[in-house]
Amino acid sequence: MSANIQAIKEEIENYKVSNEEELEQYRLRFIGRKNILGDLFAEMKNVPAEERKAYGQQINELKDAVTTKFQELIQSLENLKGDAQEDHPDLTLPSRPDTVGAIHPLSATRAEIIRIFERIGFNVSEGPEIEDDWHNFSALNFPENHPAREMQDTFFVEKKPDIALRTHTSSVQVRVMENQKPPIRTLSPGRVYRNEAISARAHCVFHQVEGLFVDEGVSFADLKQTLYYFAKELFGKQTKVRFRPSYFPFTEPSAEMDITCNICGGEGCNICKYSGWVEIGGAGMVDPNVLDNCGIDSKKYSGFAFGMGIERITMLKYQIRDLRLFTENDVRFLRQFTSLS
Ligand code: DAH
Repeated sequence: MSANIQAIKEEIENYKVSNEEELEQYRLRFIGRKNILGDLFAEMKNVPAEERKAYGQQINELKDAVTTKFQELIQSLENLKGDAQEDHPDLTLPSRPDTVGAIHPLSATRAEIIRIFERIGFNVSEGPEIEDDWHNFSALNFPENHPAREMQDTFFVEKKPDIALRTHTSSVQVRVMENQKPPIRTLSPGRVYRNEAISARAHCVFHQVEGLFVDEGVSFADLKQTLYYFAKELFGKQTKVRFRPSYFPFTEPSAEMDITCNICGGEGCNICKYSGWVEIGGAGMVDPNVLDNCGIDSKKYSGFAFGMGIERITMLKYQIRDLRLFTENDVRFLRQFTSLS
């Protein structure tokens, strides 16, 4: 191949254009009427006869290369234009619709419970989710090896000394009483863990809110009145509350708390199992042993405590029939709560 042809071939291969003008220069040089290949064709007559065939073939190949490259250059210029357009979006286009997020129903219920109790002087306190045996069990009057510990299927993190995921928010009561002097009025919302099979009614991770009131002369009447007020504020004025005797190691006397079923209004339906009542938590007078364990003089002070499940309350309030919906993150469920604040 003649040095000249080789040089032109390389020039074509390396050619780049960044605008229309440069493309036109390419066209004039290689394709236009007076293009550089014309000189090569004219040269043909000076080539010795025996080499002419090979020479002709080389120029023809060069000609093909010229046109292929021309198409490539046109395409590359188009692509450049496309990129440039992306850098400069059309500002006159209407914007894409924005979807508004929603507050999770559990967060909304938690916030509403806090607002209700704040109005009667309760503050909010929190404690760790990984707890030691003392705060989750022993200080709360669960004797060692007592079957009451089996009531709550515990996830242990370490054994001896026992460290576990807290099974209830009652552990925060202990921490507050250890660190504060009465009067104490506190609400402790938080996540709790129990080794339970997941179903429509139970989960191994759920939320509780604990309430504690300690002062001189606190009575069961105070407990009842506080929870009457709470139930009416949260579920409506028509709501009635009843207490059934129960047992918890950390309260004496202890009670379970029911409200009239807000779905049927007490008439009876499948949610309340046709009893007209649904359970929302446990409550009682703080056992004097617990006060003493936490450094509060049980001869001088008394108190009441209660604990409720936030999932359960939310299910009743919004008529949600499956607890698993709270953790599945299905937007078709979550979107139904966009109006909550
Ligand atoms: N800790 C109990 C539970 O998880 C609930 C409870 C009952 C809390 C009675 C209390 C109470 O503060 O007084 O089932």
